[in-house]
Parts: sequence; C-alpha cells; structure tokens
Amino acid sequence: MSTLVTGGAGYIGAHVVRLLQERGDRVIVVDDLTTGDATRVGDATLHQFDISEPSARAHLTDLMRSEEVDSVIHFAAKKQVGESVERPLWYYRQNLDGLNNVLGAVVDAGVDNVVFSSSAAVYGEPDVAVVTEEYHCRPINPYGQTKFAGEWLLDAVAKAHGVHVAKLRYFNVAGAGWDDLGDPAVLNLVPMVFERIERGAAPLIFGDDYDTADGTCVRDYIHVYDLAEAHLATLDYLRGDDRPESTFNIGTGTGYSVREVVDEILRVTGSDVTPEVRERRAGDPAQLIADSSRITSVTGWQASHGLSEIVTSAWSAWRLRHDHPAAD
Ligand SMILES: NC(=O)c1ccc[n+]([C@@H]2O[C@H](COP(=O)([O-])OP(=O)(O)OC[C@H]3O[C@@H](n4cnc5c(N)ncnc54)[C@H](O)[C@@H]3O)[C@@H](O)[C@H]2O)c1
Repeated sequence: MSTLVTGGAGYIGAHVVRLLQERGDRVIVVDDLTTGDATRVGDATLHQFDISEPSARAHLTDLMRSEEVDSVIHFAAKKQVGESVERPLWYYRQNLDGLNNVLGAVVDAGVDNVVFSSSAAVYGEPDVAVVTEEYHCRPINPYGQTKFAGEWLLDAVAKAHGVHVAKLRYFNVAGAGWDDLGDPAVLNLVPMVFERIERGAAPLIFGDDYDTADGTCVRDYIHVYDLAEAHLATLDYLRGDDRPESTFNIGTGTGYSVREVVDEILRVTGSDVTPEVRERRAGDPAQLIADSSRITSVTGWQASHGLSEIVTSAWSAWRLRHDHPAAD
C-alpha cells in the first residue's frame, strides 16, 4: 500500500510528503517541477512529468499499478488567480486535464482513495462572515472555476466508479512546518509583506473602509503544518469504513484582519516601516472565515497553530531561503 502525491515538490505537497514519510508511509511523487523543487521530496521517488499531457494517464496508471498505490493526494495545479484571468484556456487545461488524467488512471488502476486540493476560491464573494460547506459556490475567476469543476468531476467519478474522494477547501495557507519548506512564491499576504520589508518598501493594505473592526479585510489563516495534518487525517478517514462526508473546509474558524497580520509581521521582523493604504481591490470580500467543524466531527482534526506561529515560522523559512540562497 502506498500513496501517490501529485505536486509533492510544491509548498503544501512537500509538507504532506514529509509527514507521510515521518509516519512510515510509502510515498511516490509526481511533479513537473514548474513551481516545485526536487530537493523537497526527501526519500520519496520523484517522477517528473506534466500530468496535463495526454500521455500522462497511461504513465500514471503504470505507476499506480507498479507501486501498488491505494491512495492519491492530488495537489498538482496552477494557482495564480490573476494569471488564470489572463490565460483561462491554459488554466482549464492544466488544472482540469491534469485532474482528468489522474482520475482516469485512478479508475484504470483500481485505486481506492483520492484527496483533492480545492480552495475557498470556490465560494467567490460570500455575503456571510463564516462559510460552511453548504454555502453556494459561485467562483469569480477561472482559477476558482477549475477547482469547483474539479469537485464536480470527483463527485461524478466517485458515483460512477466507487472511488472514495475528499475535497479539501483550503482557506489562507501560510507559515512553514520546517524551515526548508517555506512558501517560495510571493503571491500571498505574508510573503508579500516580507518581500516589501526586505527592500525597505511599505507593506500595502488594500482598503481600510470595509465593514470590519479595523476596516481591513478579515481572513482565516491556516498554518501549512495544520493543513498537512488535515490531509493525513482525511486519508485515514477515506481508508476507513465510514465516510459520510466528502467536502471539507480547512481553516481555523478565527479571522485576522490584514492590519493585524501586517502588525504581527512588523513585530516578528522587527521592522518599523509604516504600512501604506491603497484602494480596495476588486473581488475582495470583507470577511472570509471557515466553519471547519465538519472535518473535526468526522476525523477529529483541528488546527492548533495561530497567527504568531504562522508568521514566526514563515519568517524563519524566509530567512533560510534568502540568507542562504544555495538552499534553493
Ligand atoms: N497555497 C495556497 O494558498 C492554496 C490555497 C488553496 C488551494 N491551493 C491548492 O493547493 C495545491 C498546492 O498548492 P501549493 O501552494 O503547494 O502550490 P505549488 O505551486 O507550490 O505546488 C504545486 C506543485 O504542482 C506541480 N505542478 C503544477 N502543475 C503541474 C503539472 N501540470 N504536472 C505536474 N506537476 C505540476 C508544481 O511543480 C508544484 O510542485 C494547488 O492545487 C493549489 O491550487 C493552494
């Protein structure tokens, strides 16, 4: 019995690979290294190819059979909202052809379980503060659409072929479980503020006139280590006999405002730069917090790290990466 992890050389996937290895599971990684890093997969065998190519289904099927894979955790995807707006055809191909090939191989090889990286982006711009899985999904960009369409495809394959699936809707992922596994991309608030501070520029806050306590947007930040543990809990749940649910929010249930996060970053980094407030960005809901009680009730998982640990661990990983570029 082994687990195949697509995108296992990426930021979140590498955390899951390491946790699986730590508990002694056999892990095989498939990654084309477009945004991943081969040094992150530890002892796992890395198979480097693009899962969205037509040939990938047969290649994946062979791997799943030869490695006696019973479960797949599927991370490999493109994740930049802006890029998805500019290149919708490519995003749909990357994210949905990739998933289609993975699921085709799962069916062909008789794999039992699939855990899928979905996103809070499926909810679009909710008009409620705390979102449950029952809230309607109306993604507002091609990235979110590929995740929602992916969930539909998974449900259809589960029904038609008896595969056990779980769709994990991540909220705002940040932090590092290990210093060498920090987020290399500068796309989310925490690394974006680090990057500005490093070059002496003011951190940017987009809008301070929202209907929230301090006027800035409130989000649910989930430590990547907690998120990785949620994958292992979900995998064990799928391998069990009782699987009443398949869609799970992954967050903490606690919101922090952009200003609170920026203040915490300034404190941890010892910076005294004054943040700069800019106009609101389109498509930013005032508040987005996960109700994650469903996954807790069926697996027992819950997040245990807060904002301070997220920022401290992310900064420590950032320092390793930027003070010792050879670690890249
Ligand atoms: N990081 C977040 O904040 C966040 C939030 C919600 C959902 N997600 C989802 O979680 C998953 C992992 O995200 P991440 O932050 O680790 O991103 P990442 O870019 O660090 O990791 C993605 C990995 O997949 C690989 N990959 C991409 N396209 C591939 C392809 N066609 N074939 C083979 N390998 C491919 C990349 O090389 C990389 O190693 C993605 O599906 C993403 O959409 C991430």
